[in-house]
Amino acid sequence: MKNEERNRSIEELIEEMDLHKEAPEEEPFRQYYFIKKARAYYQELSRQEGRPLTYCVTTFGCQMNARDSEKLSGILEEIGYVEEAEETKADFVIFNTCTVRENANQKVYGRLGQLGHIKKSKPHMMIAICGCMMQEAEEVETIRKSYRHVDLIFGTHNIFKFAELFTQALQSHKLVVDVWKDTDRIVEDLPVDRKYLFKSGVNIMFGCNNFCSYCIVPYVRGRERSRNPEDIIKEIRQLVADGVVEVMLLGQNVNSYGKTLESPISFAELLRQIEQIEGLKRIRFMTSHPKDLSDELIEVMSQSPKICRHLHLPVQAGSTRILKEMNRRYTKEDYLALVNRLKEKMPDLSLTTDIMVGFPGETEEDFEETLDVVRKVRYDSAFTFIYSKRSGTPAAKMDNQVPEDVVKERFQRLLKEVQTISAEVCKEQAGTTQEVLVEEINDHMDGYVTGRLSNNLLVHFPGDESMIGQLVKVSLKESKGFYYMGELVH
Ligand code: 5AD
Ligand code: SF4
Repeated sequence: MKNEERNRSIEELIEEMDLHKEAPEEEPFRQYYFIKKARAYYQELSRQEGRPLTYCVTTFGCQMNARDSEKLSGILEEIGYVEEAEETKADFVIFNTCTVRENANQKVYGRLGQLGHIKKSKPHMMIAICGCMMQEAEEVETIRKSYRHVDLIFGTHNIFKFAELFTQALQSHKLVVDVWKDTDRIVEDLPVDRKYLFKSGVNIMFGCNNFCSYCIVPYVRGRERSRNPEDIIKEIRQLVADGVVEVMLLGQNVNSYGKTLESPISFAELLRQIEQIEGLKRIRFMTSHPKDLSDELIEVMSQSPKICRHLHLPVQAGSTRILKEMNRRYTKEDYLALVNRLKEKMPDLSLTTDIMVGFPGETEEDFEETLDVVRKVRYDSAFTFIYSKRSGTPAAKMDNQVPEDVVKERFQRLLKEVQTISAEVCKEQAGTTQEVLVEEINDHMDGYVTGRLSNNLLVHFPGDESMIGQLVKVSLKESKGFYYMGELVH
């Protein structure tokens, strides 16, 4: 989806670039220069094919990647490419990868193999891979050796350079690889192509300094860097002017936002400032690390009419001993006490979480502690994961890995517990009337739309396209376990 208003000034700046001169050194102008240069290549290729060329960005992993993909799409649209939903039909395919668990990597290789066959009959096709998986040297090596049909590889730290690297790949007809180990840079003001007109993710920080012992993210996303509050506010103001009513503030650990800025500010203070933006109706954020969630934040949340009544608070495990081994820096008791403080101030707060089973050394007793937390907190929903060994992390070197059959059995028990409880929690809201942001036409039921409640659950109710992007009141008629059927209240 193109966003004429917001991109207009960028558009003008791109037009002003003089391709007879050397590329400017300063960002983002350097990228504007390469966008214009890529346009010339695009036009020639498109003329040869006798039609507009298409692109497909395939995103694996988290919301952070989804936002990065919108930036890649923004640049491709500026160059002239047209979006194509099916990657097998597109002229340019880019995989934005995730490496948080092993199966994410396998999926990429499967899809990449498939594209290899297609490219044989479509030689002008180009394939790029970026994202977290490309920050691992051995994965880049595998692609170099076994997936020779790939044209461009880059990592998480230099995604802002996409226009430049893409131009290089168009020019050279050889594999271009550019992966940085780390960065302290944040480049602002590149084009973005939002998936939704009325809501948007907004990065507030990048990277992670927590080094949970199982997690590869700090190695592939680098050290924590916060954006300046003025840049964040400016971006949100522009989004609102553009029709956005809901923002999702994104960071691996939003609660430590601002600590490394020249003039440090807290996440709670940032929220206070964002709250003031007129026209903005809803604020969400993720992810919160329990160890950094301050009373100041609880206060700001509970006072705010705009901050949604939803908190994603990954617990990972219930056993204090395992939490210590995970380097999470809170105990089971700390976590439960935090949940109590939150619920005291906001009884209607919806809590969701991430839980892992099968961390090295996890005993039946440890696992029971996880179930105990699930029963005590009563999450609205939980993402459950089987521990995946990531090479380079401290946990990968732990020798007491849990046997697969034990892990699978625990995983099933956890899933059952989580599902039973979330269905019960969902039921509690049935019969109430709530404010809902209408998000899309329902694909499965004619004449229905789907909207999102403040607590992040979905409701399907009769409606039409004209309602998309609007906040409306909906009566929740029936709970279906993890969503509702409802009716518009006039
Ligand atoms: N194995 C399984 N799950 C993991 N996560 C992070 N690293 C791993 C791993 N090695 C999960 C955590 C995190 C979520 C984004 O992914 O639960 O919160
Ligand atoms: Fe990984 Fe822990 Fe950082 Fe989350 S907080 S990204 S789990 S290291």
